[in-house]
Amino acid sequence: MWPATDLTEELGVRAPILQAPMWGGIATPELAAAVGEAGGVGALGTADMPSDRIADAVAAVRARTDAPLHLDLALAPPTGDGAPVARASAALHPFREELDLDAPDVSPEPEPPTLERQVEAVCGARPAVVSVTGGVPPETVLRTVRSTGALVLATATTVTEGIMLADTGLVDVIVAQGAEAGGPRATFAVPADHGLVGTLALVQGLRAAVRRPVIAAGGIMTGEAIRAALALGAVGVMMGTAFVAVDESGADGTYANAVKTARDDGTVVTRAFTGRPERVVRNRFVMEVADAPIADYPAQAALTAPIRRAAAERRMPELRALRAGQGAALARRVPVGDLMTALEAETGMA
Ligand SMILES: Cc1cc2nc3c(=O)[nH]c(=O)nc-3n(C[C@H](O)[C@H](O)[C@H](O)COP(=O)(O)O)c2cc1C
Repeated sequence: MWPATDLTEELGVRAPILQAPMWGGIATPELAAAVGEAGGVGALGTADMPSDRIADAVAAVRARTDAPLHLDLALAPPTGDGAPVARASAALHPFREELDLDAPDVSPEPEPPTLERQVEAVCGARPAVVSVTGGVPPETVLRTVRSTGALVLATATTVTEGIMLADTGLVDVIVAQGAEAGGPRATFAVPADHGLVGTLALVQGLRAAVRRPVIAAGGIMTGEAIRAALALGAVGVMMGTAFVAVDESGADGTYANAVKTARDDGTVVTRAFTGRPERVVRNRFVMEVADAPIADYPAQAALTAPIRRAAAERRMPELRALRAGQGAALARRVPVGDLMTALEAETGMA
C-alpha cells in the first residue's frame, strides 16, 4: 500500500507521485492517463503547447481516465542576455551542413506563448492541479487559477524563491526542484547556475523556512527515494526522468536508450537547445555549442528545431535534446503500471 499524505488525501489519489509535465512530446496523453490509472497524478506539458491544442490533449487523457490531471504554466524567462540571432545561427552552421539543412527563417523573432492565452486554455480544461514555473506569478494569474478550484503548485529551486512564492499567500504547495532534476530549470531569483541546490538540502531548507507543504523533485527514481522524500516531510514527489523511458512516454527508442546509458555524470545544464537552462544528456551538440553564441529563448529553440528534428529522424542522439536528470541510468523501460507497482513495493511503507 502507498502511504497516505496530505496531498493524496487532498487529491483523492493512492500514490504520492506526480508525473512531471514534460516538454518535447514526452508527456503524452497515454502517459498522463496511465499514471492516473496507476494511482498517481498524470500531467501534460501545456506550458509550451499551442493554447488551441490544449483542450484536445486534455480530452485525449479524459477519454482514458477520470483520474485527476496536472497541467502546467510557465512564466516567460527574462530575455536580453542572449547572443544576437544572426551570430547564434552562424554558430549552428556546421550542424546544418552535416545534416544538409537550410538555415531557418527566424525573422521576426518568435515570441514565447502569451501567458494570458495559456491561463485561459489551462483553466478552461479544469485540471485538478496547476503548476507554475519560472517566477512569482502575477496575482491575477494565481487568483484566476485558484478560482477554478485547482490545487496551485509553484516551483522553487532555492529557499529564497520558496519564500517569495509562499509570500503571495496564493500558492498551495511549493515544488522543490533540486539540481538533479531533468529538463528546464525553474530558477528565477538568481542566475540558473546559482540555483543548483540539491534536492536533499532544498527540501529540508524549504521545510524549515516556508509554512507551505513541499513536493520533492529531482533525482527521485526509486521507491527508496520516495520514502526518503516523505521522511523529510515532503507531501509527495514529482518525477520526470523516471517516466521518460516507459512504454507510454513520447520518447522513442533512441532517446530511451541514450537516457538509460547516461551515467550520473552524463547530464549537464545547458542553454544550447532552447536558450533556457535545462538538464540534458551531455552529447556532441552540447559540448560543441557550449562556448558558442547562444540566443535567448525561444529564438534559440527555433534555430535548433530543424537540427533536432533531423537528428531524431536519422537516429542521431548526439545532436538531440535528450532531457533527463542525474538519475537517468535508473530509468526503467517498462509499462507505467509495472513501474508504479515496483515503486509501491520499494517504498514499502504499508
Ligand atoms: C524530459 C523532461 C521534460 C521536462 N519538461 C518540463 C516542462 O515542460 N515544464 C516543467 O515545469 N518541467 C519540466 N521538466 C522538469 C520536471 O518538472 C521536474 O522538475 C523534473 O523532471 C524532476 O526531476 P527528475 O527528472 O530527476 O525526476 C522536464 C523534465 C524532463 C525529464
